[in-house]
Amino acid sequence: MAETKKLMRALAGETQAVPPIWMMRQAGRYLPEYRATRAQAGDFLSLCYNSDLAAEVTLQPIRRYGFDAAILFADILLIPDALGADLWFVTGEGPRLSTITAQAEFDILKGPDDIHDHLAPIYETLRILKGELPSETALIGFAGAPWTVATYMIAGRGTPDQGPAHALKTMNTELFDALMERLTLATIEYLSKQIDAGAEVVKIFDSWAGSLKGDDFQRYALEPARQIIAALKARHPDTPIIAFPREAGDNYIGFAKATGADCVAVDNSVSPEWAAEHVQVDGCVQGNLASSHMVTGGQALIDETRRLVKAFSGGPHIFNLGHGITPDADPENVQLMIDTVREG
Ligand code: CP3
Repeated sequence: MAETKKLMRALAGETQAVPPIWMMRQAGRYLPEYRATRAQAGDFLSLCYNSDLAAEVTLQPIRRYGFDAAILFADILLIPDALGADLWFVTGEGPRLSTITAQAEFDILKGPDDIHDHLAPIYETLRILKGELPSETALIGFAGAPWTVATYMIAGRGTPDQGPAHALKTMNTELFDALMERLTLATIEYLSKQIDAGAEVVKIFDSWAGSLKGDDFQRYALEPARQIIAALKARHPDTPIIAFPREAGDNYIGFAKATGADCVAVDNSVSPEWAAEHVQVDGCVQGNLASSHMVTGGQALIDETRRLVKAFSGGPHIFNLGHGITPDADPENVQLMIDTVREG
């Protein structure tokens, strides 16, 4: 049967007059129905590990807006949790983890194949979604890239400049490389199981790729992505992969070819015209409206949405934000964005 899902067609390289749309963090705190389900679950992590409720919040933005794709509701930090690091979220502040700065802390982590019992509820969420999504909606699984996940594991929290991870990389390269390798292998196993459970596409989030410069970018952003993609393609040759080396700048150029990614997601620090010229030449691009437009709305949102659709109209494109939608966004602005993309 010919592929009918708009997202899958874009990922196969088709140029469409109206691009498929979804939004990073589309299930999130800007939606009242998300806040209600989260309160029912108790807290964010309980929501991630409750398959029925995680499937419910994944479906909420699909029901409200009819996006072309649903993204699994989970978090990139579930991998450290499954490897045996302690993980908790402080409301209003963000994640906290036990730190990895010495060999002894690394030695207690589990092996890359020993994560699946812990992550079984995530695979179950995907199985539920596979049965419940409308036939035109694609299902996206995801994981964090090794570097981004390592920055949280090393520091024990989010940091403005990923300083502790850069320090470990320099001061104890052997330990840093061992952590990167463990994360690379665990990510391959995790994403492979997500595909077995029903994910039709997977996305690799490297939110802090932009802080890797020069050779470090090649070694710790590009190379792990290449390894993960090669291993997944060997097991699941028909599953497209989206890579998001956020704020990579010039390093976006050639990233798809070098890693084997089917699509590169670009943040809004680059213009759509630049991304069309330098990134879309190699295939599908996803992005890149500034998420601040979901807060401010109005004519500027309409104008910028039209500019972006036009800039990317010469090749395969998935309309999305440049980063996740923020809790202060107005749900009506999301509708305005969708109407502008679909009606011109
Ligand atoms: O896109 C989606 O809707 C899918 C689900 C998803 C979440 N996090 C849910 C979430 C995805 C793909 C992520 C990715 C993620 N998580 C990243 C990479 C992308 C990015 O945003 O840069 C990172 C760095 C994380 C780690 C993380 N999770 C942080 C730093 C925080 C706290 C900051 C914040 O926004 O609250 C989270 C929490 C988180 N992950 C929330 C959601 C919906 C908010 C939790 C809540 O309900 O309070």
